[in-house]
Amino acid sequence: MVMGVSINQIRKISLGLQVSTLLTYMFGFTALKLSGSKKEGIQRHGKINTLGYTLGALSLLYMMYSGLRLIIARAAPSIMYIHGTFGLITLALSSLFVANRWSWKTIKNMRTLVVLFLSTFSGGVYMFSRLYKQRTPAEKSE
Ligand code: HEM
Repeated sequence: MVMGVSINQIRKISLGLQVSTLLTYMFGFTALKLSGSKKEGIQRHGKINTLGYTLGALSLLYMMYSGLRLIIARAAPSIMYIHGTFGLITLALSSLFVANRWSWKTIKNMRTLVVLFLSTFSGGVYMFSRLYKQRTPAEKSE
């Protein structure tokens, strides 16, 4: 329990935030493609995707907390380290985009980011399916 909320409830909120991030990115891509003017489309795409990044960053706070607890309890599955490494790279690259580092904002880097994000997301969904409802030693000691 964290402030009266069960860990499984927070887990579901965190998953909801990541799914919202994914949907926002899809929306941002559609906005770019549907926009009449290229300049306007790029601006809209940037704003929408920054919102998606913020939603994902909120969920990251929980994931860091949960990761640390799993490591301390020696209950971390090996996929967590792979997921975390991919996640940190994804985060670093997307931060460069949000911080408007134009030299990094290439189509090639955006495609790389899509692959990284989707791989990290899939690993996260797999972990969710393993951890949801299953009480880890860290949770049992609460
Ligand atoms: C863009 C980056 C990331 C994405 C898209 C992502 C996605 C997800 C998703 C969808 C879940 C399942 C829902 C949940 O339980 O929260 C998850 C779980 C988790 N992620 Fe991430 N993640 C990212 C970055 C990270 C990073 C950087 C770390 C650690 C350093 C991390 C550690 C974890 C842990 C420990 C869990 C299991 C949490 C739990 O259910 O108790 N993730 N991630």
